[in-house]
Amino acid sequence: MAERLRPPGRLRLGVNIDHVATVRNARGGQYPDPVRAAEEALAAGADGITAHLREDRRHISDADIDSLSDLLRDQSRPLNLEMAVTQEMLAIALHHRPHAVCLVPEKREERTTEGGLDVVGGHNWITPFVGRLNEAGSRVSLFIGADPGQIDAAHRTGAAVVELHTGAYCDAVREGRDQEAETELAALRAGAARAAALGLEVHAGHGIDYETVQPIAAIPQVAELNIGHFLIGEAIFVGLGPAIARMRALMDDARAPDATA
Ligand code: PXP
Repeated sequence: MAERLRPPGRLRLGVNIDHVATVRNARGGQYPDPVRAAEEALAAGADGITAHLREDRRHISDADIDSLSDLLRDQSRPLNLEMAVTQEMLAIALHHRPHAVCLVPEKREERTTEGGLDVVGGHNWITPFVGRLNEAGSRVSLFIGADPGQIDAAHRTGAAVVELHTGAYCDAVREGRDQEAETELAALRAGAARAAALGLEVHAGHGIDYETVQPIAAIPQVAELNIGHFLIGEAIFVGLGPAIARMRALMDDARAPDATA
């Protein structure tokens, strides 16, 4: 099982299926089913499934987490549960004991997870959560900006993993702010190196698309990317399987020994 969860040297792809639930919830009812999307994602080359149970349940529901836990356990694949640092979410995570838990900041009024967790300011609040989740056997990841202070603080909590927020880099690329994109990418590279030097496993995610995936995938310390919104959007045009297969191929190309990304 451990081998399956972490193939050596290969960049893993976690597919976030939240926005399948967003479409379902637009009409109520059961369709489209995020669990079916998870099955298709795994068949198409996803290494694991990521789902964010938000406090307001705007997309993924508690029942989805029940079903996803069963599916991933049956398939011996990792579920990465994204959640806010609250007692309610902690109880849910301790009930399911997913392979991984990614702690994220959450504001009710935001459209998506806009920034990273403030681990420097919230250290005393976050550290006991990390401890409880570690004890339960989940691999804890903190979603943070690539800021040296945040990385060092994340390390002090006892978390095994940091997920670096790639949103600012991806937005800058999409909006043609080239200089800013370079600065953000340099910060991600430096942050990944710093985190890895501390012994943290490095993940990255938010806002990644076909254009931005390769420079991020080429950062050697990054072990996993978590990608959602763009893949679900592409699924409308080409289908979920082909969208994931293309993303997977771009990631693998960026990691190939002769890659230039
Ligand atoms: N990683 C984390 C921690 C997130 O909160 C999200 C968004 O839910 C993602 C990755 C995926 O971002 P996107 O949907 O923009 O690909």
